[in-house]
Amino acid sequence: MTVRTRVLVAGKNGQLSKSLKVASAAATDLEFCFFDRHALDVTKAQSCSAIIDRLRPDFVLNLAAYTSVDDAERFPDDAHSVNGVGAGNLAQISAVHDIPIIHISTDYVFDGEKRSPYDETDRTNPVNTYGMSKLAGENSVSRLNPKHIVLRTAWLYSPFGSNFVSWLLSMAVEGRPLRIVADQVGNPTSALDLAKSLADLIRQLDNTDWTNLSGTYHLAAPEPLSRFQWAKRVVALSGELYGPTCQVSAAATTEFATPATRPLRTVLSMDKFQNTFGLKFPPIEQSIGDVLQALPRSRKVAQ
Ligand SMILES: NC(=O)c1ccc[n+]([C@@H]2O[C@H](COP(=O)([O-])OP(=O)(O)OC[C@H]3O[C@@H](n4cnc5c(N)ncnc54)[C@H](OP(=O)(O)O)[C@@H]3O)[C@@H](O)[C@H]2O)c1
Repeated sequence: MTVRTRVLVAGKNGQLSKSLKVASAAATDLEFCFFDRHALDVTKAQSCSAIIDRLRPDFVLNLAAYTSVDDAERFPDDAHSVNGVGAGNLAQISAVHDIPIIHISTDYVFDGEKRSPYDETDRTNPVNTYGMSKLAGENSVSRLNPKHIVLRTAWLYSPFGSNFVSWLLSMAVEGRPLRIVADQVGNPTSALDLAKSLADLIRQLDNTDWTNLSGTYHLAAPEPLSRFQWAKRVVALSGELYGPTCQVSAAATTEFATPATRPLRTVLSMDKFQNTFGLKFPPIEQSIGDVLQALPRSRKVAQ
C-alpha cells in the first residue's frame, strides 16, 4: 500500500482551500485533511495543539486568514489575531513535533512604491492593517518553526467565494459599464493554478533536506497586469465564452474612497521560487478561462 503524505490544511472554506480540494481530487500520493474554523480555530493554541497532536501530519498548510482588506481597518484586533497570532500558533505547535509549515502571505506586505518587481530581499513596509497583520504572521512563522516556507502570493481569483473576477461577472450580468483602476498593478493569480503549485511543492519538499530551503518565496502568476487590464481580459473572455460582458474604462485609485489604502505597484519577482522549485503557470488567458468555465452558471448568465 502506498504511504500518502498527510497535510493538515487550516481554513477549509476559503477559495484557496476549495481550489486545492479540486486540484488534488485525483492525487493518490497526497492526503489533504481540511479543517474549518470550528474544528481548528488558529487563534486558539489549544485547538491547534489538539488537532496537530491527533493527526500528526507530515506538513501543516496554513490557508486560514482574515482577508477583508477594508474590514481589517475597522477590526484590526481580529486581523492581527488570525493573521499574526494564528499563524504563530500553527508554526510553534508544528515545530514541537518537527513538522514543516507552509504559510501563505501576500504582496501587500510591500508599500507598492518600487518601479521594478519586488524580490524576497526587498524591504517590507505595509500601508494597511491587513498587510501589517500578514507581515506579523510571516515573522512569527519564520521565527518559531525552523522548517518553514512562507509563500507570498497575490490577487487571487477562483470559481469560489467573492473575488474580483466573480464580482466583475456579477456586475456584467447587470449590464453596467465599469470603471476600474488602472494604477494598481499586480500579479492576478488563479487559485486553481496556485493550488496545483502547492501540491507540486509539497511533493518536492517531502523527505527533503531543509538545511537551505526554509525561507520566504514569491509564488504568483508571472504576468503583471493593472486591475483595468485584468478586467478587460476577463470580460473579453467571458464574451467569447457566451457569458456576460460589459464596457470597462480606466479610472484612478484616488477616485474611489476606501477604508484601507492600497499599495499601487506590488509586482512580484518569482525568480527565487523558479530557481529553487520551478514555476508552472499557464498563460493568463487559459487561467481566466478555466475559472470562468468553472464558475456556477447562476453567476455567468443574465437572470
Ligand atoms: N485573496 C487574495 O486576493 C489574496 C492575495 C494575496 C494573498 N492571499 C492570502 O492567501 C491565503 C488564502 O486566501 P483566500 O483568498 O483563500 O482567503 P479566504 O477565501 O478569505 O479564506 C480564508 C479562510 O480562513 C478562515 N478563517 C478565518 N479565521 C479563521 C480562524 N480563526 N481559524 C481558522 N480559519 C479561519 C475563513 O473561515 P470562514 O470561511 O469561516 O470565514 C476562510 O475559510 C491567505 O493567507 C491570504 O492572506 C490572498
